[in-house]
Amino acid sequence: MRVGVLTGGGDCPGLNAVIRAVSKSLMIHCDATVVGFEEGFYGLIERKSRELSYKDVSGILAQGGTILGTHNKANPLSYFGADGADVSDQVVDYYNELELDGLVVIGGDGTMSISHEMQKKGINIVGVPKTIDNDLMSTDRTFGFDTAVAIATEAVDRLQTTGQSHKRIMILETMGRYAGWIGIESAIAGGADVCLIPEIPYDIEKVIEYCEAREERQRFTIIVVAEGAAPKGGSFVVRETVEDSPDPVRLGGIGNAVKAQLEPYLDSEIRTTILGHVQRGGTPTAFDRILASQYGAAAARLVMNGEFDRMVALQDGDVTSVPLVEVANKVKTVPLDSTLFDAARAVGMSFGD
Ligand code: F6P
Repeated sequence: MRVGVLTGGGDCPGLNAVIRAVSKSLMIHCDATVVGFEEGFYGLIERKSRELSYKDVSGILAQGGTILGTHNKANPLSYFGADGADVSDQVVDYYNELELDGLVVIGGDGTMSISHEMQKKGINIVGVPKTIDNDLMSTDRTFGFDTAVAIATEAVDRLQTTGQSHKRIMILETMGRYAGWIGIESAIAGGADVCLIPEIPYDIEKVIEYCEAREERQRFTIIVVAEGAAPKGGSFVVRETVEDSPDPVRLGGIGNAVKAQLEPYLDSEIRTTILGHVQRGGTPTAFDRILASQYGAAAARLVMNGEFDRMVALQDGDVTSVPLVEVANKVKTVPLDSTLFDAARAVGMSFGD
């Protein structure tokens, strides 16, 4: 058996743990040859691949990033390197030339959507849900999310002590695109006072009232704001837009926008920290290493069983799989009836509503 593997979209802690689990499972259990594509779909389009040895995929479990490299612009259906032309046929030719029986694609919603289209063109694909944002449909968890929450929580912890020392208002901007998973979980884990997320458009007057009440009690305030958060009747803040990308809008800047909205009304000094790509780098947590290993093993099993056009998923504690089409181009936000809100509101956290 010959099986390809690639990592697409933004990187995330745990990619190497998945590559290792997929490759070792296939090598050990069916003596497969594993072919790694460099930089995601870019490698499939530009014919950049190499056979991976057992040694290549050993010792990488705890390593951040991806040994294969990744690309967040390469889409065979609209390739930036060919003025947006559809180059999927040449990709299918390359896949066939390499005599592959299947391809494991590790990526987010954009990558799953491309994968579903490529499956229709004859490439046998199994997806693995990756992203720090945890915003993929049909899975309770994406790998990488736990690590991002741990990093953001540590940032909240550190802002607590410096904020307390100066009685300041400390704003932490987290990533997460249009979902508030990293924001709400790190706010709860770090004991933040205010949490602003895309799921609940905030009323700045409510945030001001909340901070004023804390000032009266001589208390400092920690505000976690997810990059996709927006005020009632307003829009999220765009850092930049990128042409020829499946994900052309880059969010960022809401932390400073909230600071500017609060400053005229409050006595305290306000500081903003934008956590950025720190949330994506470095070694995965134990939880993410385990989840990535479970996903990798499950993806290899699907390939061995000839079950394609599916993505491995975690549902109610069990590793299972779902059709790729269920996941393609969809976003899973934090449900408003989630018990996360109960836990947060129980201890007085404000969502600016
Ligand atoms: O999807 C992962 C993510 O880190 C988002 O949270 C963030 O909005 C985006 O990627 C940043 O993308 P880039 O690495 O292109 O700046």
